[in-house]
Amino acid sequence: MKLGHKSRQSDCLGSAVYSSIRLAMAKKALITGVCGQDGAYLSKLLLSKDYSVHGMVRDASSADFWRLNELDLKDQIIIEEADMRDEDSLNTLVENIKPDEIYNLAALSFVGASWDTSVETSDINAMGALRLLNAMKEHSPKAKYYQASTSEMYGNSNGETFQDETTPLHPRSPYAISKLFAHWMTINYRESYGLYACSGILFNHESPLRGINFVTRKITDGVARIKLGLEDSITLGNIDAQRDWGFAGDYVKAMWEMLQQDTPEDFVISTGETHSVRDFLQAAFKEIAITDWESYVQFDDRFTRPLDVETLCGSNNKAQQKLHWEPTVSFEELVRIMVEWDLKRLTSAS
Ligand code: GDD
Repeated sequence: MKLGHKSRQSDCLGSAVYSSIRLAMAKKALITGVCGQDGAYLSKLLLSKDYSVHGMVRDASSADFWRLNELDLKDQIIIEEADMRDEDSLNTLVENIKPDEIYNLAALSFVGASWDTSVETSDINAMGALRLLNAMKEHSPKAKYYQASTSEMYGNSNGETFQDETTPLHPRSPYAISKLFAHWMTINYRESYGLYACSGILFNHESPLRGINFVTRKITDGVARIKLGLEDSITLGNIDAQRDWGFAGDYVKAMWEMLQQDTPEDFVISTGETHSVRDFLQAAFKEIAITDWESYVQFDDRFTRPLDVETLCGSNNKAQQKLHWEPTVSFEELVRIMVEWDLKRLTSAS
């Protein structure tokens, strides 16, 4: 008995030592915006690759960890407090962690709200990225930096069918302009200081972890509510807008790949297919066997924007060639996954 106990104890000691050696040798990643959709999927990916993941939040006592809890990751992440608006807090954070990789995902990301929050949006998305780049340059210059750039930077792209890394940028919202600043700062710091800094120009990417104010989740949640008799319609704005929608779980793999290259470069990440909000509605209602979906959808001007981006469709050729990345979830599968998840969530909540 005793021997057994001793041997179990030494096993425990052995595994504790092994764990701390592993932790000491593990690559360290810092993710800003860890509580968002991409932060959660990226944490999952990096943990599966044995990274030690430091997730930055502004205030741990009020942060909403539902996505990390949904993926059962919360306890595996080292939560760090800092603020994209506070230079000192970012300097201290980067100096203390000395991360190998920094993923800057923190942002006010809802385009529609950015006209009303333009100053805060610019401070967090644009100046925040600059503060973080400065912190990295000062305290961890060998780190690799990923900037979450966006297809919103293209605006209407003068009617070009596909947008790629060379397409001219013409942002149409305070959000897109703030992201454009961060995008160019990332390029500038790469070119000026030789930092490993790059941008992923990601087209729309969705999942069951998407916030409810974005159109896809608003639709799948609404469709599930209609199916369960909890609501009788969905109210939307411009349903003629077209977007290139992929699955967020695929897109975080591309973020990681970008930081594993020999030289830092910017990449478009997209599916290469575009669909209108109408198409999304039709596909989502099809999941609950409703074909006359128009009778369940209402229009409200409150959900339109002072300026909208009409059509986005990205060419992912460069990512396919250099990162060997391609999307694995089709538009129809994505809609199905999201509707099914909302149905399950609402059924278990009732
Ligand atoms: N949110 C929302 N709510 N959008 C609506 C609604 C509505 O009720 N009705 C129509 N839309 C239209 C919007 O006008 C827009 O043309 C389209 O649906 C998509 O809107 P969002 O889902 O809010 O996403 P987005 O395309 O504006 O921005 C998202 O993708 C970008 C990447 O291209 C966000 O995730 C951004 O942060 C991201 O950078």
